[in-house]
Amino acid sequence: MPENAPAGNAPAGDAQPAPVRLGTWPTPVEPAPRLAAAAGLAADTLWIKRDDLSGLGGGGNKVRKLQYTCAQALAAGATTLVTSGAAQSNHARLTAAAAARLGLRSVLVLGGEQPALSQGNLALDHLAGAELAWLPGATPERLRDEVERQARRVRDGGGVPFVIPFGGSSSFSARGYVDCGTELLGQLPGIDRVVVAFGSGATMAGLVASLGAERVIGIDTGAVANPGATLGELLEGMPGTAVRRADLRIDRGQVGAGYAALTPDAAAAMRLAARTEGIFLDPTYTARALAGLIACVADGRIGPRDRTVFLHTGGLPGLFGHPGLPRLS
Ligand SMILES: Cc1ncc(COP(=O)(O)O)c(C=O)c1O
Repeated sequence: MPENAPAGNAPAGDAQPAPVRLGTWPTPVEPAPRLAAAAGLAADTLWIKRDDLSGLGGGGNKVRKLQYTCAQALAAGATTLVTSGAAQSNHARLTAAAAARLGLRSVLVLGGEQPALSQGNLALDHLAGAELAWLPGATPERLRDEVERQARRVRDGGGVPFVIPFGGSSSFSARGYVDCGTELLGQLPGIDRVVVAFGSGATMAGLVASLGAERVIGIDTGAVANPGATLGELLEGMPGTAVRRADLRIDRGQVGAGYAALTPDAAAAMRLAARTEGIFLDPTYTARALAGLIACVADGRIGPRDRTVFLHTGGLPGLFGHPGLPRLS
């Protein structure tokens, strides 16, 4: 069984499969001088790594992770990808897109009540042909149970389900962000800091494994209860990565009223990125990450001349399904 494979997946053999290509690589790196100056950095020290332009299904960080998990699914002979997330999950949308690209079916277990209107990511889930299962009052345990129930249903119908964990994060899928770190060092040797949103953790885990803990700052979005423990477990599952938990940098100052809330700092960061660089952020992940970067510059965790990369992880469709949207216009 592959490391971190959720229970219920068929064994894919001992060897880990090579990633399946789903995106367009390398993603661009763009200087952001006007945003740098507004954030308190020297104008020539801030870049945006455009993983929002990763190609498949509207793009975003989940594409790099899915290249690994989908390879496992294909090796296991899967007919159907089954995963879970919040109603506006970017991971769910990209799982649906990846399934379509690979000629597979997808079942998405989404936390919450089915809304009257399918907006944002939900509209794209439907367009990609995903089957949706709603779970009101979802806890991580209930989501897991429902995913297993859906996987059994697929199996009972003669299909082969492959379960992708919440947010697409496993120690294996984190290799997608080891690749990103290596790509980034080729594009910008000598970077001092990379700032990234933290959700289910594999994006940061891969970056820490390739760039070192001291260079990577994760901005928590409130998606998991204990991001430090989640990150530590992902890193422990990555062979050859020895990182002390005390060296990991996760900033929990941007969670505000919780994952689903649009915080005032995130709203300000969205306006700033749009008005200085013409870059649009999403309220849940990338806006929090930029707000966190600005806070790090303000309190000296990032020096004004530190060569800093803001990782744009995508997520814009979520803006069009977010209850805070009217307050942004
Ligand atoms: C747009 C966006 N950025 C960042 C993240 C965080 O990535 P990870 O779940 O790997 O921590 C997510 C997913 O949760 C996302 O959808």
